[in-house]
Amino acid sequence: MQTIHFALMGGCDAFVGGGAVRLLGQEAAKAFTGRKAALITDSGVPAEHIALCEAELKKAGKEPVRLVLPAGEPNKTLAAAESICSFLYENGFTRSDGAVCAGGGVPLDIAGFAAAIYMRGIAFVSVPTTLIAQTDSAYGGKTGVDFREGKNLIGCFSQPKAVVCDTDFLRTLPERELACGMGEVIKYGATAEPEILSRVSRAIPDDDTVAECVRIKRRFAEEDFYDTGVRRVLNFGHTFGHAFEAASGYSLSHGQAVAYGMLAAIRLGQKLGATRPGVYEAVLSAIKSAGLGADYGELWEGAKALIRRDKKSDGSGIAFVLLEDLGRPVISRLSVDRILNSMK
Ligand SMILES: NC(=O)c1ccc[n+]([C@@H]2O[C@H](COP(=O)([O-])OP(=O)(O)OC[C@H]3O[C@@H](n4cnc5c(N)ncnc54)[C@H](O)[C@@H]3O)[C@@H](O)[C@H]2O)c1
Repeated sequence: MQTIHFALMGGCDAFVGGGAVRLLGQEAAKAFTGRKAALITDSGVPAEHIALCEAELKKAGKEPVRLVLPAGEPNKTLAAAESICSFLYENGFTRSDGAVCAGGGVPLDIAGFAAAIYMRGIAFVSVPTTLIAQTDSAYGGKTGVDFREGKNLIGCFSQPKAVVCDTDFLRTLPERELACGMGEVIKYGATAEPEILSRVSRAIPDDDTVAECVRIKRRFAEEDFYDTGVRRVLNFGHTFGHAFEAASGYSLSHGQAVAYGMLAAIRLGQKLGATRPGVYEAVLSAIKSAGLGADYGELWEGAKALIRRDKKSDGSGIAFVLLEDLGRPVISRLSVDRILNSMK
C-alpha cells in the first residue's frame, strides 16, 4: 500500500494498492464525525465492491445510506447533482455527516460536486473503481457536471478528505474500460515519465504504475491547483480528443478519443517543427500495446469543424499542448487556422 499526500486545500491522503478498501471506515471516521454516510455509486459498478465499502463503513460505526445513479457520461448532469442533494436532504444529512462515492470518473465528478455544494460543503471520501478514476480523476480537486453541449462546464474545485484507491477493484473492469484508462496512463508517459510507456499492455497495471500516475498528477495539481498554467499539460491530446469524441457522436470511449488526440497532436508538433522524430512512433507503439486504435482518418473532417468551438479557445487561439520530446511538453498558443492548416 502506498500513501500519497496531496498538500492542497487542507490536505488529502490517497491510499493506493490492493485491499485499500479496508481503510475506508477509518478514513471516513477521520473525515466526518456524524454517523450518516451517503454511499453513492452508479448502476455499472459491481455490487460486490459496494458491499465491501458498506461493510467497512459499518465496521467504523457509520450508517451507510446507498444511492445508485444511472451509469454513463450522458447522466453527468446538473439534475444528477441535484438528485444527490435531494437524497442528502431527504435523509436528514447535516454538515457533520459525509458522502462516500465509489465508482469511475463520472459518479466521482458528480458526487464530489454535490458534496461541495450541499450545505456549502460536506466531507467527501472518494473510492475510485476505474483505471481513469484511479490514475487521474479522483485527485486534484476538479468536480463537476456536463452542461448543454459542453463537458464539465459546471463545477468547482474541491478536494476529497481521502482517496481510497483499491486496485483490486480493477479486476472486474471490462477490457474496453481498461484500454480507455490506459489512454490516460500513456498521456502521463508522454508528458511526464516516458518510462511508463514501456509498461503499457492490455493487462491490469501493477500498483507501482498506478501510484506513479498519481504522483505525476499530484506534481501538476500542487504546482497549479486552479489549472491556469502548467497543469494544462495534462490536457495533452484532449483538444483533438474531445473533437474526435464529439465527432463520433460519443460512440468512441474517452480513452480512445484521447489516444487519437495524442497522435494528432504529435503530428501537429511535427508539422510545426516542434516535435522531435521518434516521439510519434513511441506513443503509437504504446497505444497499440494497450489495444487502442490509431487510425482516426474517418473522424478527422467532423473533428476539424468542432475544433473551432473548443472551450479552450478564447478568440486569440488555443493554448495547445505540444511535445518537444517524450516528457517535454510545451504549451503553445496557436490560432485555430494555424492548427488546421498545418494538419492538411
Ligand atoms: N475530475 C477530473 O480531474 C477528471 C479527470 C479525468 C476524467 N474525468 C472524468 O471522468 C469521466 C470518465 O471516467 P470513467 O472512464 O471512469 O467513466 P465511468 O465513471 O462512466 O466508468 C465507466 C464504466 O465502468 C463502470 N465501472 C466502474 N467501476 C467498475 C469496475 N470496477 N468494474 C466494472 N465496471 C466498472 C461504470 O459503471 C461505467 O459503466 C469523464 O466524465 C471525465 O470527464 C475527470
